[in-house]
Amino acid sequence: MIRDYLRALPVFAGELPSFNPSGAPGRPDELFVTWLYAAVSAGVREPHATTLSTVGADGIPSARILIVKNVDADGWQFAVHGASPKGQDLVRHPAAALTFHWPAQARQIRLRGPVRAASPAESAADFLARPPASRAEASLGRQSQPLDDRADLDKALAAVDLPAGRAIPEWTLYTLAPSEVEFWQGDKQRKHTRLRYIRAAAGWSRELLWP
Ligand SMILES: Cc1cc2nc3c(=O)[nH]c(=O)nc-3n(C[C@H](O)[C@H](O)[C@H](O)COP(=O)(O)O)c2cc1C
Repeated sequence: MIRDYLRALPVFAGELPSFNPSGAPGRPDELFVTWLYAAVSAGVREPHATTLSTVGADGIPSARILIVKNVDADGWQFAVHGASPKGQDLVRHPAAALTFHWPAQARQIRLRGPVRAASPAESAADFLARPPASRAEASLGRQSQPLDDRADLDKALAAVDLPAGRAIPEWTLYTLAPSEVEFWQGDKQRKHTRLRYIRAAAGWSRELLWP
């Protein structure tokens, strides 16, 4: 039975890192970068892939994976095509959540807060730094529309004529400036460690959460 199969699958397997929140830095982006390097060292694949959750016009959340482009004191950056469903969600409702999961370490990082679009020049620079195939695909501007025939994709890509150095105006770099960020360290005995940063008038406050 799939129910029994699911229940028998292991979680929090292998050796897990420790996390002492009393030694955590004052800013969540600093702790994120420390954890990111540790994830790469631990062999976590694609640790910069994150789940972006947005709110749809119907009020129902949508979530999908995308790549984080930068992290600093201003926030977490990612880029979308403005005509894609997520791009439209963000224009309509400029707030989002990001969720990272690094299973080899039983680590999760959750952020939520408002997003703001970068300047057209910054968005263009992000677009031009993408690999050629990614730029060509994005220039089609049809992401998540129904595709009647896969050959139509090949035809459309063959017809792309995007001059080198030219960005598409719909490409938008966003910064999520979190109102809160939670770092979650799993524990085999289920005594998970949770540290939440909350944005305050001056800097960040921190608190532990019950598992
Ligand atoms: C590992 C991984 C990385 C991805 N990176 C991106 C990305 O950087 N940008 C993007 O638009 N979609 C990316 N995708 C595809 C998205 O998850 C999604 O299918 C697509 O953007 C359409 O989303 P939407 O219909 O909600 O707009 C990635 C998917 C995976 C599994």
